[in-house]
Amino acid sequence: MASTSATLPSATTAPTTGPPLPPNSTRLPQTAQLDALLTIIRDKGTSRSDFIFYSDRIIRLLVEEGLNHLPTLEKTVQTPTGLPYKGVSFEGRICGVSILRAGEAMESGLRECCRSVRIGKILIQRDEETAKPKLFYAKLPEDISQRWVLLLDPMLATGGSVMQAIDVLLQQGVPQDRILFLNLVASPEGLQAVYKKFPQVRVICGWVDDGLDENNYIVPGLGDFGDRYWSS
Ligand code: URA
Repeated sequence: MASTSATLPSATTAPTTGPPLPPNSTRLPQTAQLDALLTIIRDKGTSRSDFIFYSDRIIRLLVEEGLNHLPTLEKTVQTPTGLPYKGVSFEGRICGVSILRAGEAMESGLRECCRSVRIGKILIQRDEETAKPKLFYAKLPEDISQRWVLLLDPMLATGGSVMQAIDVLLQQGVPQDRILFLNLVASPEGLQAVYKKFPQVRVICGWVDDGLDENNYIVPGLGDFGDRYWSS
């Protein structure tokens, strides 16, 4: 049976600060709320519908944080009171790119925040002969080199798939520093690998876990995200 002990939370409670991150990476604020959401999806007894519901909540937090990293321009509008308001507007266009199949789970969270956003897809699978990640399919907006790209994959384990996906984006002319990679749970190994190869790609994680097991699953992790989200 799961163990519980009550603590009085505050909005800024940080249950753990976690390990230091590479300079290109940030974590969501490590609040008790986020920890509670992650605890639900980590629990192997959580039903599929709860897994989807609470993953979607974390995805929404990640997308909102990702949007904080986009540049803005000063913009002044007239309010109904007749006075001007000096605010800002987003500087450039964006698109999402999901790494199939698990990354598709993050598309609706992006659509909820960004109306009519263009979303591309990349399928990378393990090549049975080389045991390395191999590109099987990519469908991307034709003007992707002019956009900021929110790259979506819930789990950053070894980094093999996402690094292959970043290579595809670079080949399409997207500069590294216009790529923001959003994930729910990352391993320190994956973060280091991405930083070493692509130091200008920004990585935004929900949580950073302890490491990888012998099967390259994140530990303590939450198991196979795609299976738990998509398979009934
Ligand atoms: N992908 C997952 O779904 N889970 C992991 O732990 C690692 C990769």
